[in-house]
Amino acid sequence: MTAMENPDIARVMRHSVQHARDNTYELVDDILKVPATNYTDPGRFKLEVDRIFRRLPLMLAPSCEIPNPGDFKTMEVAGVPILLTRGSDGKVRSFINSCTHRGTNVATAPTGNAKRFTCPYHGWTFGQDGSLLAVAASADFGAVDKSCLSLKALPVAERAGLIFGSVDPNLKLDIDAFLCGYDALLEAFNFKDWHFFSSRILRGPNWKIAYDGYLDFYHLPVLHKDTLNATGMLGNRAHYHAWGPHQRLVAPDRAARELGDKPESEWTDDLVLNGVWTIFPCISIASFNGGGRGVMISQLLPGDKVGESWTRQMYLMENAPSADQEAAAHEQFAFLEVVVRDEDYDTGLRQQRALDHGTLDHVLFGRNEGGAQAFHKWTDRIIAASDEELPALFAGADIVA
Ligand code: FES
Ligand SMILES: [Fe+2]
Repeated sequence: MTAMENPDIARVMRHSVQHARDNTYELVDDILKVPATNYTDPGRFKLEVDRIFRRLPLMLAPSCEIPNPGDFKTMEVAGVPILLTRGSDGKVRSFINSCTHRGTNVATAPTGNAKRFTCPYHGWTFGQDGSLLAVAASADFGAVDKSCLSLKALPVAERAGLIFGSVDPNLKLDIDAFLCGYDALLEAFNFKDWHFFSSRILRGPNWKIAYDGYLDFYHLPVLHKDTLNATGMLGNRAHYHAWGPHQRLVAPDRAARELGDKPESEWTDDLVLNGVWTIFPCISIASFNGGGRGVMISQLLPGDKVGESWTRQMYLMENAPSADQEAAAHEQFAFLEVVVRDEDYDTGLRQQRALDHGTLDHVLFGRNEGGAQAFHKWTDRIIAASDEELPALFAGADIVA
């Protein structure tokens, strides 16, 4: 199935191409003011961590990072250690990575392949399904009911070649309800068959300062004038399309340049899927071509303090690069690391420092920055919602395709 066979994707692309042909552009109604303290106040930060990162489903990892039976991955989400496993049945499971004896992490390697997990402290052993298989020196330890001492399981689901999960074992929001149908569009990438090429981690400012930078193209020709836009080809406009809080950004000038003069039968997937795909609250997926077709998936997670975040940049390629493509692929991704670290996050850390010192009451998002406007409004709505209110919030979400 081609990307254009998805009716939502086709509508979005025709929309930008038509605007380009008519020389028109869509703006949102008003300028939005956001209190500067949203980026600096520790109380606000705690609410966001508790009500967004420790509650909602998040895109945790691409499926191709743990493609084989027995593969596992450990990570922390807002301080909560988790363990993702792919069982011998091929199913992904998620657990709190905390031994039920005294709580240390049962798995410590970032990724690996294991039939069972032996806790490094006293040697209790757990299966890929989280069950407690054996208590070390069990006769000495005393009788326990092993069936009650499994690792704590967490909600998880694989959709569109991506693994979604929540660190809240009692999550009341269904993962599909959270996705608002957006995963059907992401299916067009076919990520489940892609190759996990490499990853790295960058320190950034408050997670929303960092994420704002993935939600507009306004800054591209300015901040990135010597790097991403060295050719002068990038415009500063984006059209925003939303499935609940998840947004796809399309550059209308690029759509015009690459698609405008071609019949739709020649609109290939790599051209149609360009632009930025975000998954609320902290994922951006953008296409590149270096050593073959690839995407950079950026995953932003809050740090321990309001002014700190950590971004994991993951490089996925449609096909594993051949020996002579590999250098070009490394070069492409090294370039993107430099752009984000030395331009986006360097600027964001300065912005953080200024706001921390009370330089502004509000920051502004223009009529051309509808993506970040929608993101801040969703953030406010979600932190105001109780657990019971969450399903209705997502069920009633607008689809602005
Ligand atoms: S804490 Fe895991 S075996 Fe003791
Ligand atoms: Fe940027």
